[in-house]
Amino acid sequence: MSAGTGRVLVTGAGGYIGTTLVPMLLERGYRVRAVDRFFFGRDLLPDHPRLEVIVEDVRRLRPEHFDGVGAVIDLAAISNDPSGEMFTEATWQINHLARARCARLAREAGATRYVLPSSCSLYGFQDPDTVADEESPTNPLTTYAKANEAAERDVLPLADDGFCVVVLRQATVYGYSPRMRFDLAINGMTYGAWKTGRLPLMRDGSQWRPMVHVKDTSEAQIFMLEVEPDLVNGKIFNVGSADNVYQIGNLGSLVADLVNRPVEIEWYGDPDHRSYRVAFDRIESIGWKATRRAEDGVGEIVEALEAGRTDRTPETITLDWYRTLIRFQRLLREVEIDGALLDLP
Ligand SMILES: NC(=O)c1ccc[n+]([C@@H]2O[C@H](COP(=O)([O-])OP(=O)(O)OC[C@H]3O[C@@H](n4cnc5c(N)ncnc54)[C@H](O)[C@@H]3O)[C@@H](O)[C@H]2O)c1
Repeated sequence: MSAGTGRVLVTGAGGYIGTTLVPMLLERGYRVRAVDRFFFGRDLLPDHPRLEVIVEDVRRLRPEHFDGVGAVIDLAAISNDPSGEMFTEATWQINHLARARCARLAREAGATRYVLPSSCSLYGFQDPDTVADEESPTNPLTTYAKANEAAERDVLPLADDGFCVVVLRQATVYGYSPRMRFDLAINGMTYGAWKTGRLPLMRDGSQWRPMVHVKDTSEAQIFMLEVEPDLVNGKIFNVGSADNVYQIGNLGSLVADLVNRPVEIEWYGDPDHRSYRVAFDRIESIGWKATRRAEDGVGEIVEALEAGRTDRTPETITLDWYRTLIRFQRLLREVEIDGALLDLP
């Protein structure tokens, strides 16, 4: 696919990855149809003549949403483990069933590519001496990871000569994005170290985690739209790089050094049972390579914090924000009369 051949439908376009990916697609000349509930705000995407915004729930996508669509990047999801445990039913509906349905609708409407941005968290816990590749047994430990795996299982068999399906198992993402997330490891550590001198670290620090910059994973998604389909169709690719795989404790020390101020470690959580080292040879063998390191992400976040372009607002902690929205909804229902508050019509 190239910029001239149909729109790219991006679900979850208003999210952390989506608000970085969509401007990159537009810059490359693509026409984009962004579909999202915009739970984190409606003003995070640019106004652009080639961008069409649709406010809709992915569980209610209809065939007409796919008119003129050449490719789909299906980002919409309840996007982390704690939210998945809190909203189990919604997570299965959105992360599994809605994606499987989205892929089917895309194929029926004549789209030629479907990219599922899944997660390396499917590897769950692996022996520290094992470096998991795409053929390794998965070990999903949470609702979030299990729903991702179920989505992968349902979309991959839809691949055929005319419909290229690619699964990307993304490492944990970091770096600045317009919809900022400070509930991701590097981002949260950077904020804590910069703001308070207290660096949050999940116990016990020996767990392994691969990382990828938000622009790198966005580039990998665009790469999958443009690469020769035979190289990728029906396949799974881990997205990240060998030089971005860390033990969390060591990562904390690196972030502390980069922020360049004395920090105290603030341990949190029960001992983390997720630990996985991951190999990225498969994606590198087809010509894609991550180019950014943790240093780049920490530097740009500190710069954005210092310039006042970002802050740790409630919207930046995914689970807290979903809970806040639910609390507001309850409160509003109690006090509204005919949809009005202080100014009755
Ligand atoms: N950020 C990471 O570290 C990471 C790592 C691996 C995989 N992923 C996956 O990448 C995808 C994007 O992650 P993100 O970090 O941008 O998450 P995010 O929470 O910032 O974005 C998700 C977007 O989906 C939207 N959304 C949620 N439910 C919806 C629904 N029912 N209908 C329409 N829109 C809905 C939200 O409004 C939000 O804009 C997710 O599938 C996530 O699981 C993310």
